[in-house]
Amino acid sequence: MQPINIGICGLGTVGYGSYEVLKRNQEEISRRLGKRLCVSHIAALALKEGQDVDDVTITSDAMSVARDPAVNIVLELIGGTEFAYDLVLEAISNGKHVVTANKALIATYGNEIFKAARENNVIVGYEAAVAGGIPIIKVVREGLAANKINWLAGIINGTGNYILTEMQSKSRPFADVLKEAQDLGYAEADPTYDVEGIDAAHKLTILSALAFGTPLHLEKAYTEGISQITPEDLKYASELGYRIKHLGISSISEKGIDLRVHPTLIAKQALLAKVDGVMNAILMHGDAVGSTLYYGAGAGAEPTASAVVADVIDLVRRMDCLQEEPEQIPALGFQSGSLRGTRILPIEEIICAYYLRILVQDKVGVIADITEILGDNEISIDAMIQKDPDKSGQDHNAISVIIMTHEIQESVMNKAITELEALDAVTAKITRIRVAELDE
Ligand code: HSE
Repeated sequence: MQPINIGICGLGTVGYGSYEVLKRNQEEISRRLGKRLCVSHIAALALKEGQDVDDVTITSDAMSVARDPAVNIVLELIGGTEFAYDLVLEAISNGKHVVTANKALIATYGNEIFKAARENNVIVGYEAAVAGGIPIIKVVREGLAANKINWLAGIINGTGNYILTEMQSKSRPFADVLKEAQDLGYAEADPTYDVEGIDAAHKLTILSALAFGTPLHLEKAYTEGISQITPEDLKYASELGYRIKHLGISSISEKGIDLRVHPTLIAKQALLAKVDGVMNAILMHGDAVGSTLYYGAGAGAEPTASAVVADVIDLVRRMDCLQEEPEQIPALGFQSGSLRGTRILPIEEIICAYYLRILVQDKVGVIADITEILGDNEISIDAMIQKDPDKSGQDHNAISVIIMTHEIQESVMNKAITELEALDAVTAKITRIRVAELDE
């Protein structure tokens, strides 16, 4: 029996991890598939120390792999968007199936890529693009296909979760922990993608489109990172019964779809609050199934390779009936002609509760001024704590006032914050963190 030939483009952490899993589990995979997979080509600039790829042909020209008639499936594991896009389109136009772990590529150009794949009767698998080893694409697209999905919330960036966990538990400084996450191979090439929420926005965009049957709308995702979160915020949140997690949240209502990534206070006893370190988790609510939770390693060589290779197996199982049923399992879970252009809500329209940390001069009447502004804006206070002046800080007379509010529309909160910051007694920009109640 002829083997199915795989060309791996990119031999970094995920590329080499995929090579190793394909090789180590060759027999197990053949038993599942009834066919043999063979890595026939590798495109890499050079082998790194410790990498051994037996007698596979290596080239530095990834495009030649995408064009080689002997290759059946191209693994795009190079990363980035521009060259990766050209490579994937080249592979598709040469009739090759593609598997990618590239969330930036799918979130940015997925609509075009899936269209090209449909026109060429090939499959583009991207399970590894979201939450590494957790098979979340398959869950939304197939496992929950009976449901109307109502909402999802997830910790979908391991680096950010690792940083917040270490800052919380060991009071370690942000920069120190970020460096460690980079050394461990979790962080993106540009770590601002992790800490500023861009990587999570890529993944959330994909999950939201799959859940609600829309095209991909990366440009409409609201993105806020964790670089402004201080150890004090983590401590005060804990005193109030919360953890701060960097969440991606998407939900659907009559008004539209909520699509946002930001630091979020969640109750300490919530399941997502217990997801620590580099682990990822996604909580999803469907009308029939209720809430379900998916947990696992969101980054790293072999967890991500697990998803890459599963995609290869899945597409080999499906590729023979593509001519008769081109959209047997549509790329975004809904038939391409049934995707809806549902409105994505601007962040000003979301409604949630808030944590506010306000640095003020410790003088008579300041709390009254603050509560008056909140009252005038019809913002109801849920809890308030006042901290002693920080004698180590620059302003020995400044105190932190922490306020938890009830739910209010973001545009109203923005107006109130502007008014609060205009008070003479308010000495610094106010920290505002959104709160989420997750119905588990
Ligand atoms: N930098 C990503 C993370 C890797 O930390 O989650 C997986 O996408």
